[in-house]
Amino acid sequence: MKRVVSGIKPSGTLTLGNYIGAIKQFVNLQSVLPDYEFYLFVADLHAITVPQEAALLRKRSRDVAAMYLAAGIDPQKTVLFLQSEVKEHAELGYLLQCSTYVGELERMTQYKDKVKVKKESGITAALFTYPVLMAADIIMYDPEFVPVGDDQKQHIELTRDIAIRFNNKYGDFFTVPKPLIPTYGARIMDLQDSTKKMSKSDESDKGAITLYDDSDTIRRKIRSAVTDSLGLMKYDLENQPGLANLITIYSVIGNMKPDEVVAKYQGHGYAQFKEDLAILVIDELSALQNRYHEIIDSGILDDVLDSGRDIAREYAYKKVEKCKRKIGLGRIKK
Ligand code: TYM
Repeated sequence: MKRVVSGIKPSGTLTLGNYIGAIKQFVNLQSVLPDYEFYLFVADLHAITVPQEAALLRKRSRDVAAMYLAAGIDPQKTVLFLQSEVKEHAELGYLLQCSTYVGELERMTQYKDKVKVKKESGITAALFTYPVLMAADIIMYDPEFVPVGDDQKQHIELTRDIAIRFNNKYGDFFTVPKPLIPTYGARIMDLQDSTKKMSKSDESDKGAITLYDDSDTIRRKIRSAVTDSLGLMKYDLENQPGLANLITIYSVIGNMKPDEVVAKYQGHGYAQFKEDLAILVIDELSALQNRYHEIIDSGILDDVLDSGRDIAREYAYKKVEKCKRKIGLGRIKK
């Protein structure tokens, strides 16, 4: 059976960036790839690489799972689970660390960026080895595809390198996965600063639309989104990055190509375009929020997560046992 695997870290409030770059893409794939099996998890082990408050982390993990379902993840097609409930992720992570070099991890740009910001507060060893755990999350299930946003591309490349290295040493064992990065929306930028991506861990809240924002907040954030003084309706990522970002959001949510959005608003000012974009985003997110509220306190969520955990555990247990045998771990039985 061919498989697709992905995950989201419950480390902050989910944003429109996560929705467009990852969640929406995953939901679409369920219908585009009917013969595939889907594994999707809440990457809670990844969240604790930086300090977390226990009760809040637990709440956020549940929230991410509920948002997946609210966005249209079908539990009949997708095995949905919490990463920490399948112990083998951590175990395989360790086994793969033994096939990963420090130099490779030092080259990870996400790590380098985080080190710059967190210099004073201390960097955990797990933040450094994080991409190896991510490799384990993926190759555990032998997927063909990993749908992610652009910022995870380097981690998937490392995952491929680790899988290939392991296969060369121990014989074909892991499927070497390919990233699936959407053509539009793979990197939704901050609405106030088009040089940085919209991020859930971001402190300044004006630049990021969260999946929980109400209509007024969404409208306010889109109205105040930074554009330019050219007044030209054009999809120009280099010279008009703020506007291009808004056009991207419009095109993904409105199911149009960026050029079609540009044509539609040719001759109109940015203000009209922003008003219409706000309506589009409000409609999409309010429907999502309604479904989220139905799901979050229902028993359905736990049923789905229990069953997902059991299916994932069964697969993961077998895979890790075989992996350990390949490496030479375990007893010789007489
Ligand atoms: P995370 O939790 O930071 O992000 C989750 C997904 O959202 C995408 N994304 C974006 N896409 C477009 N524009 C943005 N501004 C934006 N911000 C985030 C990310 O690319 C990602 O697809 N390490 C991962 C979680 C993870 C994982 C995995 C993913 C752990 N194990 C295995 C795939 C497979 C992370 O921190 O993503």
